[in-house]
Formats: sequence, C-alpha cells, structure tokens
Amino acid sequence: MAESFIFSIVESLIEKLASRAFQEASEALDVYDHLREFENTLSLVKAVLLDAEKKQEHDHVLREWLRQLKSVFYDAQYVLDEFECQTLRKQVLKAHGTIKDEVSHFFSSSNPLVFRSKMAQKIKDVSKRLDKVAADRHKFGLRTIDVDTRVVHRRDTSRMTHSRVSDSDVIGREHDKEKIIELLMQQNPNDDDKSLSVIPIVGIGGLGKTTLAQFVFNDKRIDECFSLKMWVYVSDDFDINQLIIKIINSVNVADAPLPQQNLNMVDLEQLQNQLRNKLAGQKFLLVLDDVWNDDQGEEEKYPHLINIGKEIVKKCRGVPLAVRTLGSSLFSKFEANDYDFLPSYLRQCFALFSLYPKDYQFLSEEVAIHWGALGLLASPRKNETPENVVKQYLDELLSRSFLQDFVNFGTIYRFKMHDLVHDLALFVAKDECLVINSHIQNIPVNIRHLSFAEYNFIGNSFTSKSVAVRTIMFRNGAQGANVEALLNTCVSKFKLLRVLDLRDSTCKTLPRSIGKLKHLRYFSIENNRNIKRLTNSICKLQNLQLLNVSGCKELEALPKGLRKLISLRHLEITTKQPVLPYSEITNLIKLAHLYIASSHNMEPIFGGVKLPTLKTLNVADCHSLKSLPLDVTNFPELETLIVLLCVNLDLDLWKDHHEEQNPKLKLKVVGFGYLPQLVALPQWLQETADSLQTLFIRNCDNCDNLEMLPEWLSTLTNLKVLILSDCPKLISLLDNIHHLTALERLRIVGCPELCKKCQPHVGEFW
Ligand SMILES: *[C@@H]1O[C@H](CO)[C@@H](O)[C@H](O)[C@H]1NC(C)=O
Repeated sequence: MAESFIFSIVESLIEKLASRAFQEASEALDVYDHLREFENTLSLVKAVLLDAEKKQEHDHVLREWLRQLKSVFYDAQYVLDEFECQTLRKQVLKAHGTIKDEVSHFFSSSNPLVFRSKMAQKIKDVSKRLDKVAADRHKFGLRTIDVDTRVVHRRDTSRMTHSRVSDSDVIGREHDKEKIIELLMQQNPNDDDKSLSVIPIVGIGGLGKTTLAQFVFNDKRIDECFSLKMWVYVSDDFDINQLIIKIINSVNVADAPLPQQNLNMVDLEQLQNQLRNKLAGQKFLLVLDDVWNDDQGEEEKYPHLINIGKEIVKKCRGVPLAVRTLGSSLFSKFEANDYDFLPSYLRQCFALFSLYPKDYQFLSEEVAIHWGALGLLASPRKNETPENVVKQYLDELLSRSFLQDFVNFGTIYRFKMHDLVHDLALFVAKDECLVINSHIQNIPVNIRHLSFAEYNFIGNSFTSKSVAVRTIMFRNGAQGANVEALLNTCVSKFKLLRVLDLRDSTCKTLPRSIGKLKHLRYFSIENNRNIKRLTNSICKLQNLQLLNVSGCKELEALPKGLRKLISLRHLEITTKQPVLPYSEITNLIKLAHLYIASSHNMEPIFGGVKLPTLKTLNVADCHSLKSLPLDVTNFPELETLIVLLCVNLDLDLWKDHHEEQNPKLKLKVVGFGYLPQLVALPQWLQETADSLQTLFIRNCDNCDNLEMLPEWLSTLTNLKVLILSDCPKLISLLDNIHHLTALERLRIVGCPELCKKCQPHVGEFW
C-alpha cells in the first residue's frame, strides 16, 4: 500500500525546527547542535521525497524505505512535541504556579536537569536512526524536486464568493427542472385532499440528481406553492428514528447555523408526534436526497476499499461530477496535468473528512480546529491569521469540487461532501484513518486517527497495535453502558492523543487521567446530558486549544483552574452557573472565540470584563440574559457578534455604552435572531460603518417597529451581505439602498410583503 502524507509531515517538522521559539528553547536546553544536524538530514531527504512518493507504486523496496522514514518522522514529531510541552509547562508555572507546584515540578521527570539529559538522548537516537535510513536514498536514483508543484498558489480569497447552486451555475438542466416544477405545482383537484405525491429522480451516482433537485428546491415558484420546505439526506444505513430526527431538524434549518435539537434519546412515537405537529396543516415539500434502492442492478457494491478509487473512475465516465472531480484527482495515474494533484498538505486534511459520517454538515470552525490540532496548517504569513489559512485550504478544496453546498457566513462556512467524494476520502485515508465498528477487532500499527461508529463492544475488547493514535472521535454519539470503560481504555492506551471528540456521549464522569494527555489540543464533550462535573485535571492540558462543553445542560460548574489553559483559543460552554468565572476566563491569554449557549441562570454577562484577544462572541439560548454590555475598551479585537434566542435580552441597553465611542468597535459580522425584545435595529450598529461586512437579522416576529429599516443603514458602506429573514412586518427597503455600493448579496426570505415588492421586473422596488 502506498505511503502518503510523508512530504507534508517532513515539511511541518522543518518548519517547527526553524521557528524562533524552538531555536531559543533548544539553546536553553543545550541541544541546539544536535537539532541542526537533524534538520540538515531532514532537508536532504525532503529533496527526493516527492519523486519517491510518485515512484513507490512500482517499487516495493522504495515503499518499504518510505515506511521506515515515516516512522522516524513520527518519532521525531513526538520528541519535538515533548519539547513544546516542556516550554508550555514552564510558562504555566511562571504565571500561575504555587511554590508547591514548583517543588513537585523539580522532583518530577520534567525537572529541567533530568529533562535536558533525557531530551538530548532522544534527539541523538532519532538523529541516528534518520541518518541510517537516509543513507539509502542514493539506491533509488531519485530526482531532486524541491517544490511541491501540486500547490495551487495561495490566492487572495477575499474576493472569492461562493453560494449555493445558482441558476447561472447549472447548464443544460432547464428542461428537466421545468418538468419537475410543473409536476409539483399541479393543482390538486380537491383542495383538502391529504394525499401524498412522490416524485422520484433516479440515475447513477454523480449524474447531478441532487443539483437538479436543489435547482428546483430553490426556485421562487416553489416558495410560493409550499409553506414548508425540507431537505433531508438519507444515508445508506437507513434508520427510521434518525430519518425523523433529520426531518424535524431540517424544519428548523435556515440561514443561520442554529443549535440543532438533540433528539437521540427520544422514542419513535414521540418523534412521530413531534413531526406531526411540525407539519400539521401545511403544504410541504420534502426532498429525500440519496435514497438507495438495491433493486436497481446498476450500483455495484465494492468488496474492497482498495478498489474504490479505481471503481469510482470507471463508474463516473462521462458524468458531470466525475469530470469535475477526477479531472483534478489525487492519484498519480492522472499524470496528464501535474498541477492538478492535491498538494500533499491538503491531502492529509482531506483524508480526515473520512472520519465523519457521510451526510455530515461541516462547519469550517470545527474542521479548522481539528486540522490545527494535528499541526496540518501552514503558519500564517505576515498580516494573515490562522483563519485566513483555513479559508485558503477550503477554497482550494472547493475549487477542485471536493466540497458542495458551500455557504459563507462571513467568518464561518458550512459545507457538505458528495458521497462519492467521501468514498474518495476513505480511499486516501486508509493509510492512517480507521472507522471502527464491532467487526473490527484490531487496530493496525499505522493507524493514527480513529472514529468509533459503534460502541456495542466491551470497552477493551479491541486490541491495538498502534499506540500513536492522535484522533479519537465518537461520531454518532457514544451511548450505552460501556462508554466509560471504552473511554478509560482509550485514555490509558493512547498517550499521544491530540483530538478527543466525545460529542453526544452519555458518560457521567471523565477519568481523572485525562489530565495526563499532555498533547491534547481538541477536547469536546458537547451535548452530553449526564455529566454534572468535569474533573479539574482537565486544566492541566496546557496544549488545549478547544474546549467544547456546549449543550452539557446538567453541568453545574466549569472546572477550577481554567486559567492554566494557556493555549486555549476556542471555548464553548453551557453551565448552570449564574456568573461566569471571570477571573479564570480573563486570564486565558489566547482566547479568541467564546460561545455561551443554554446557560439559563446568567442575567448579565461581562459587566466591565476585559477580553483583549476575543474575536468572536456567540451567545445563544440564554433565557435569563438581560444585558450584554460590550465596549471597545474591553473588547478591542471583537469582529463577530452573534446573538440568538435570548428571549429577555434588551439590545437597546447597549446604547449607553456606545455613545460616541472612539475608537470604534471593529465588528465585521453581526447576526441577531429570535430576539423578541428587539424592536428596532440597535443604533450603535451605525458606529461599525467602517468595518461591518455581514449583517443578518432573523425572525423578528415581535419587532413591531421593524416595518422599515432605519435610514442610517445606508451608511454601512462596507456591507457585503445583508440577510433578512422571517421579519413579517417588514414592508419597505431603504430609499437609499443604492448607497450600499459594496453589497454583493441581499437575501430576503419570509418577509411576504417585502418579497412581493421586490419581485424581479414587476415588484415596486425592483
Ligand atoms: C461545540 O458544540 C456545539 C454543540 O454541539 C456545536 O454546535 C459546535 O459546532 C461545537 N463547536 C466546535 C468548534 O466544534
């Protein structure tokens, strides 16, 4: 089996070694010379790696050589990680340590003297191993290629926009579309006829059935005809409960990434009732995407994953998706155009998609943090943020048609993956990623990323040859009696874990030993409805970048010692505490994104609290919340503000804090939704005129005054995206809307009066 990802691993090693922080640390520890030697050898090997990756297919000796190299690289990565951990540990001690901590540190294996000699030894060992393997490179007659030509140059992405399928994107399907719309709109002879009509669209995968259906789904005539539209993806593991849950959730799906209901524990009958209530009295259109019908002899089931890539090629001859996707394929067989290959750094990122379920709705944040946690993102260049780098990666994947249904929310993107592309990800990933079900007993030695799809086995009934697992995901929500045992096994077996995603799990406690996972960067236990306390040992995770306890509605308090999480950038919480532990949170020196959800006991948040690094604040579903004072002195970097579902929040309270502020808030994205107290757009938005690019307002049923938009809205001359949805009383647009010269996307839905007036060609405002 081909060895992949090697080039990107070596690149990240070299990058790390070259960083200033690293050089300083290595000097302090007196291992500088050793590391320079090591780096030199790495560069020599790197020079022939690209050629080697290409040629390995026909040369099993070369393949074995690459395998050995990769193993050395991974060990080296481990040594460098240890290094970083030590540096961080010193920082924590310096900032928050007590004398007791210092003393115990001195007597532990991380004592500086012990650490130094231990590290020096490890570096020498790994250097020696590399020298030995590297010496063989001359045997293979490899060419030196120093630049990965598969790299598409990183573009200025600020000018690229993507949206869902629009008319102009679809060619040659007008006729089919009209046919289907005609069928859908056929007058029912008997108006209170409760019959159900079904229109199947059939054909082989990749033909464009989904695109056609979307094309119809988004047609304005359909909006008029159906009061409710739902789109549901049906995966091959058909399950009636899951299907109903998806339908219920899709009723709620709209423009904003709203929290979805967790209905996993609800039984079939209740689900059916819920669904009945949602649909009662409405004429609805329900699209079931990807219903597989085994009777058609046309789909083959492929026994071996290994063949999937080849089979996809066969199967997709002449099919639009194939032309788009495989034209820019991953495999060296399609050598015709060298530039079209996926560059090696992206290949690894792409492979990780295989860990998620097929119909998964991705949010860029989650993916970005996962990539970042595994060290797969290039370091940002000057004037760039890590978010920019992520956007470039996604754009590149998008431009190769690996992603679809891409929606841009300003700073967050939502997308899906066609199931054939998902198969491709599985194929690319098989080297390192494994989806575990009850048939898999043994985790091979090369596996680095695990996703549990089933949990019906006793905690430790699987054996693992691999100890170097970096990712564990419980992708369908780990439920059942054995979850805690399984978790214990994982935590004690896999010491190098960087990503631990226990979403929707039912465990009541976390093992204390979780605090020993010193490499852990991503920890999520989102939507766990049982857990009341988190072990404080979590606060030992000095590498942690994401902590997600959102949706843990029983959580009584956040762990003590949060301030020690000096790498934390992204914090998502639900808590019963009436007051946030500010003294901890304000000490998080890297905190950039804070999400507070379903925390029903909080009345005000942030009176006078300073969060100087915060870029995103998202507050949702906090019933008691009355005020949310924000001002530029305390939130100088705030760019994104989203407030949803806070029934008692009065946004006008902010006015006082915003009188004549100088300098001004730098907000770029603002979204409000389901805020019954919102009676008019808050005045202070005016002050963001120099920066505001995206504004969405959703469901303002109760805002009696929101019949027209305020005149000052036309002063927001940087506004690119304006979305107004479900504001039924809104009857007029701005007179001066043409002053919004930067506007690229204006979307008005669920505002019937206004929509009528804006109808193309005939509407008063057209
Ligand atoms: C954190 O959990 C919430 C609740 O499930 C989810 O909506 C959100 O996307 C998660 N955040 C990340 C970054 O994964």
